[in-house]
Amino acid sequence: MSSAAAALQCVTARVPAKVNLELMVGPPRPDGFHHLATVFQAVGLHDDVRVEPAEDWGITINGPYADLVPADETNLAMRAARLLARKAGIDLPVHITIDKDIPVAAGMAGGSADAAGALLACDALWGEWSPKADLEDLAAELGSDVPFALMGGTAMGSGRGDQLAPVLGRGRYTWVFALGDVGLSTPTVYAECDRLRSGRRVPQPTPSAAMMTALRSGDAVALGRALSNDLQPAALSLQPRLEEVLRTGMDNGALGGIVSGSGPTIAFLVSDTERSLDLAVALTASGAAPSVKRAVGPVRGAHIVTAVSGPRGSFGSAGPDTGHTGPAGLRSS
Ligand code: C5P
Repeated sequence: MSSAAAALQCVTARVPAKVNLELMVGPPRPDGFHHLATVFQAVGLHDDVRVEPAEDWGITINGPYADLVPADETNLAMRAARLLARKAGIDLPVHITIDKDIPVAAGMAGGSADAAGALLACDALWGEWSPKADLEDLAAELGSDVPFALMGGTAMGSGRGDQLAPVLGRGRYTWVFALGDVGLSTPTVYAECDRLRSGRRVPQPTPSAAMMTALRSGDAVALGRALSNDLQPAALSLQPRLEEVLRTGMDNGALGGIVSGSGPTIAFLVSDTERSLDLAVALTASGAAPSVKRAVGPVRGAHIVTAVSGPRGSFGSAGPDTGHTGPAGLRSS
């Protein structure tokens, strides 16, 4: 551990939610997962994950979703911190505090975001500053979406969604998310997908040319048409009222609408901020969606926003667009 980093008393990482612009699901694998070809986009809804040295391991969740998240050893952020400690041979307990703004059990990878944030923040707190590839390996051990929460931007995911390649696309897209009032469990949605497709030959998934062309050109209308999700029929089968949410969005100016990941959030792509406000109002006024959030994408992946050193002063805070996850991204204050 380096002496400079050993002085850190508190580190906060900010991590985005994701939407899958395309989610092709192949046949089940022997390990219970499914082969995927997916395109992730990180969107501007964030959780902040703060870590501080403590007498004992602990976790606190703040915000409107706090009651829906386990504040114990099973929390994915806690498992991430413990995994990194074990791999690095570190025995320094931390208290993790999560300010949660990403909806829970919503298909937006909020739990994965918290795990990515805990990895990055603990890595800095303990002065490890591990190579990115090492953190990505640990991220993949924790969950299929955790590597993308570290990477951010727009990326192709293969394997079980954990093998990533950045997509160099143009454009900034405006999203409206219609949140469900009851969450969906990811394994249940995959199981329903298998049930609905049983007896049919399921091909190996491959990314579509239409999606790549839309992203390359930055054409929001083409992107709206290219949105697709093989888990959508399963999510609709489990929560049939999502059909009405989709219809309401499409009738009120959305360029495209899709179940986000395993749902039940419905993600609508719109042309600009004004349309996003109109659509948000239409969705809530119609009663189709109990709550709505708006965000733009792509945004950067997990990054450190504050790192505070000991009694002799603060280490400063990273600017939002430094592009760094490590110490070079921190300014002296
Ligand atoms: O990797 P993660 O823990 O997020 O996966 C949660 C569940 O989603 C898995 O246990 C599995 O049931 C399902 N899943 C899958 N195939 C994938 C990713 C997730 O079947 N590629």
